[in-house]
Amino acid sequence: RPVRLAEYAPFSHVVETVTLAFDLHPSATRVRSRIAFRPNPDGPSGPLRLDGEKLTLISAAIDGTPVAPRVDPTGLEVDTPDAPFVWECEVEIDPSANTELDGLYISNGMFCTQCEAEGFRKITYYPDRPDVMAPFSVRVNSDLPVRLSNGNPGDSDADWAEWHDPHPKPSYLFALVAGDLVAHSDCFKTMEGRDVALNIWVRPGDEDRCGYAMDALKRSMRWDEEKYGRAYDLDVFNVVAVDDFNMGAMENKGLNIFNARYVLASPETATDGDYARIEAIIAHEYFHNWTGNRITCRDWFQLCLKEGLTVFRDQQFSGDERSHAVKRIEDVQMLRARQFREDAGPLAHPVRPESYIEINNFYTATIYEKGAEVIGMLKRLVGDESYDRALALYFDRHDGQACTIEDWLTVFEDATGRDLSQFKLWYSQAGTPRVTVDSRVADGTLTLHLRQEVPATPGQPDKAPQVIPVVVGAIARDGREVLPSTLVELTEAHQTASFDIGTDDAVASVLRGFSAPVILRHDLDNADRALLLAHDTDPFNKWEAGRALAKDALMRMITDGAAPDPAYLSGLAPVLTDDTLDHSFRAMVLGLPSDDDMAQGLADAGQVPDPAAIAAARDRMQKARAAELKDPLSDLYGGLANLSPYAPDAAQAGRRALRNTALGLLSRLDGGTLARAQFDAADNMTDSLGALLPLVQIGAADDALAAFHDRWQDDRLVLDKWFSVQVSAAPADLALDAAEALVDHPAFDWKNPNRFRAVIGALGMNHAAFHDASGRGYALVSQWLCKLDPVNPQTTARMTTLFETWRRYDADRQDMIREALERIRAVPNLSRDSTEMVERILCAG
Ligand code: ARG
Ligand code: ZN
Repeated sequence: RPVRLAEYAPFSHVVETVTLAFDLHPSATRVRSRIAFRPNPDGPSGPLRLDGEKLTLISAAIDGTPVAPRVDPTGLEVDTPDAPFVWECEVEIDPSANTELDGLYISNGMFCTQCEAEGFRKITYYPDRPDVMAPFSVRVNSDLPVRLSNGNPGDSDADWAEWHDPHPKPSYLFALVAGDLVAHSDCFKTMEGRDVALNIWVRPGDEDRCGYAMDALKRSMRWDEEKYGRAYDLDVFNVVAVDDFNMGAMENKGLNIFNARYVLASPETATDGDYARIEAIIAHEYFHNWTGNRITCRDWFQLCLKEGLTVFRDQQFSGDERSHAVKRIEDVQMLRARQFREDAGPLAHPVRPESYIEINNFYTATIYEKGAEVIGMLKRLVGDESYDRALALYFDRHDGQACTIEDWLTVFEDATGRDLSQFKLWYSQAGTPRVTVDSRVADGTLTLHLRQEVPATPGQPDKAPQVIPVVVGAIARDGREVLPSTLVELTEAHQTASFDIGTDDAVASVLRGFSAPVILRHDLDNADRALLLAHDTDPFNKWEAGRALAKDALMRMITDGAAPDPAYLSGLAPVLTDDTLDHSFRAMVLGLPSDDDMAQGLADAGQVPDPAAIAAARDRMQKARAAELKDPLSDLYGGLANLSPYAPDAAQAGRRALRNTALGLLSRLDGGTLARAQFDAADNMTDSLGALLPLVQIGAADDALAAFHDRWQDDRLVLDKWFSVQVSAAPADLALDAAEALVDHPAFDWKNPNRFRAVIGALGMNHAAFHDASGRGYALVSQWLCKLDPVNPQTTARMTTLFETWRRYDADRQDMIREALERIRAVPNLSRDSTEMVERILCAG
């Protein structure tokens, strides 16, 4: 039943060309295919087996002669000549019944597709696997105003349009869109002199919200030329925004399809965070054109080959466009929140998994975010210049191929002469390595004793030491840097490194820039951390020192009922008022570790987290910080006012982030007066939501929420924010009341994934509410997952991960969660997607 990497075999046939014709009809679409096959000299022989699901076969022929294939629920088999032949077939499908949003479906009256990973088999019979690549020609028969597919446009008429994609591609990159759409258009001249027409297609009325995505697209295209030497390779590049979409976006060749929330933005409706995500996702999908499309994956076990590398590239891009320091801190926060959590629980898996039941369950933080960290480590180990040479060789050697991680690493070995066999363990060993560092300073020398340990994970009890790049520096007690950043390659279980630093009074700054995705245990005391917070030259470790102080203080508040640490409180003001630091960095230093972070920290320390105690400690900490910092916060709040006209750039966004962080704290003191004033005056969504959030947090948001609803009830994307904020940010009991009421709200369109996540996902992200001792959180989430599964298995399965941390908690909560998971498992005909997830979450111990 599971698919295994070890069982890979090439396909029996080679596809030379694919020609498709669609007669679009909402409930009875006909798809005719004409596929030229020849036997694969490197593949197994035997009959032709094609994948196909939920298709009604109308007719089939080989070389013009009708044939009767053996059809089963997952495909068909047919005997074929031992020579090249043409397969022709016609099927009927029902897009209007496709609520899974996988294959060809209808969103708000518009036909659209999602084929990664295995959706194309719901469109027609085909070898639906990424190592089968072919040029596609498509004819769309429809009188809808806009008909799009991959590649370059061909002829068209009132009732049909043709498209041709000359670049051989796997079926998962196929796309088709048809509907009543309007374009925001622009153009781009590539470094090779090609004129490319750019279009962002949206529903009428949304065309004035595409400017930022278009700007981000043009900047991405230029950046990939300048940094990687990669130019675009078709005459048009189309992007379409759809309302119903399971994920963020999809890199279909020449026709990227996006969740509308990652395209549409105006200052009134989108926050600075939304703008940054749009920029990153536009870049991500565009960069896939080379890392994913021109060079694709041999099989789905190699998913990180395209995803890890493309995430790494979009992170580099965002860093170049905004701030590397801020971007790195954001990326690490996200890695810890999502990937470390995954790695610590029953769903832990290697960056390259070795088996799966449903591949859609492996579009995970480990494959994306840890996959990107692995690329970053490789670059750090070989150096920037070698990285550039290796990438040039990769594009040169593998263009047009479906590749493996072995191909990728061989390129680096050939380009650098370095043996990467130990490095390869990053792809096969799951679990977050623990690095323990003891530092000693004596006789002008800093000595580090480093120890690494990779914890056991499901199916992997024993691990070997990995190659861990640890960047270290040192700061003298007087604030001078006495050791600039230096790379230590940790390859053994135990290792020692020494540095001449010319002083006996200094503190080591270890894992600068978060140079490896590990959990660091460094024997610093709070005075050392305060020194690093004040003086570290490495922005990541400067921030990290503040976070460690906050975490330590919160930990003691939770476990011993201690008062907020005065040393931590007094260390904040100098950072807050340091005008040499950029605003967003200062806002991040004022952030606290999340409740989920604290729960994991307690679990790592062998304790059972009490969600209510964690939330109460955070509350006390916020009040104490507000009281301690009242004056500088008020000054900052006043001094950062008046940013108009609004621009979504990093500088303005940083000012708003710091100002809204200050507002959040000040609201703990004034009962929400200032926040309410900002809410009423706000002319942009960042400031509006920045005021609404603290009002919700202190339970004083009723009027503001009503006003927000009245103003935005007709705007789907903004209304999602209204649903989500009152559930994700409120105190536990209010959040539960809100969630239970909102699922009955007339606008709770639960079949829309964004809206479903805005309530049910938001509840799962509110740690204290989800884990409320009453069990209301578990009950509501599991009840809705049971209801969603028959309609949309992919989104259901993804959201079961809300339960992945269940072993951290006390016996009562574990019992309630086990019951909740068992309720899901008992749903009649539970999808393969959710079955795999629930069983993995329940079983691995
Ligand atoms: N390749 C897409 C991206 O990274 C995501 C596709 C996710 N597909 C899925 N079935 N989960 O942008
Ligand atoms: Zn991707």
